[in-house]
Amino acid sequence: MSEIETATAQALADIEAATAPDALEALRVALLGKSGSITARLKALGQLEPDARKQAGAEINRARDAIGTALAARKATLEAQVLDARLGAERIDVTLPGRDAGHGGVHPVSRTLERIADIFGRLGYDLADGPEIEDDWHNFEALNFPPHHPARAMHDTFYMASDGRGSSDGSGVARLLRTHTSGVQVRYMAEHVASGQGGPLRMIALGKVYRSDSDQTHTPMFHQCEGLLVDEHASFADLKGTLAEFVRAFFERDFEMRFRPSYFPFTEPSAEVDIAWQQADGSTRWLEVLGCGMVHPNVLKNVGIDPERYTGFAFGMGVERFAMLRYGVDDLRAFFDNDVRFLRQFA
Ligand code: DAH
Repeated sequence: MSEIETATAQALADIEAATAPDALEALRVALLGKSGSITARLKALGQLEPDARKQAGAEINRARDAIGTALAARKATLEAQVLDARLGAERIDVTLPGRDAGHGGVHPVSRTLERIADIFGRLGYDLADGPEIEDDWHNFEALNFPPHHPARAMHDTFYMASDGRGSSDGSGVARLLRTHTSGVQVRYMAEHVASGQGGPLRMIALGKVYRSDSDQTHTPMFHQCEGLLVDEHASFADLKGTLAEFVRAFFERDFEMRFRPSYFPFTEPSAEVDIAWQQADGSTRWLEVLGCGMVHPNVLKNVGIDPERYTGFAFGMGVERFAMLRYGVDDLRAFFDNDVRFLRQFA
């Protein structure tokens, strides 16, 4: 083997033995770089005789080509190894589930409102609305609560300073946070009379009401659902049937119901409705769930409906009460504490 062949064999072995790209690059510089050993041999060719130069030149060129090819091959191998190592270390599992930003949920009271609206919607009731800041006429007077009627005492709320409007009792009180949704009955009937629409009226109103009350079953703000039907032959039997149907649809089971005589200024006769509620221990308890009655003739007169021709029934219920029963919640205040651990259970 010639000296150059020996040197080339050594160079090829060194290249093959290189385990890192840096080491390989150092070899390339040492062999083919400006002051590399192969380069030096090429430079030295000039000192040889033409014949010897030709032969040596061919030999050196072969050596340079072989070394160049080996360097390139080894480089590709090492780079592939580096890439494999990185791919192994930095693996991304594309099958992992994505990160969840978290979902909101519908509040249990809102769910209950939707559920009630849906049931009455299917019974053909219109969804009506009224202001939460109400005037004395709609909240009380038109509903047959005269100015100093004792029934007003149960409806303590926030009163706004008078602006001179809406006050009919001379007390200067103009606006208040509505204490019940019954005022929407008045608004709805008056609108229908004013627009000359005939036919039966059927509406429910859902919304916030305000009273000076706070304990385990009362919050200063809560929600009510008001219902009203006015027609030529509306009867107490229709009222009973409607409420029984609603309670059955809401709780998805049958209940024994009890209508207890009661008093509301705007209905006559009036009743409170109890349902026979099965307790956790198996015993049954009467639970009051709503108030109702036949619309008082004075209320019909106040909105321009002839009480000799038309009769109507009305009912009002606390929405949270229904939500508590449906979801088994025993403290009404929990609905408004905004504790996500509580609310998440309904999401
Ligand atoms: N507005 C009454 C209250 O808040 C509830 C009520 C009772 C509404 C009888 C009615 C009704 O429409 O007929 O206590």
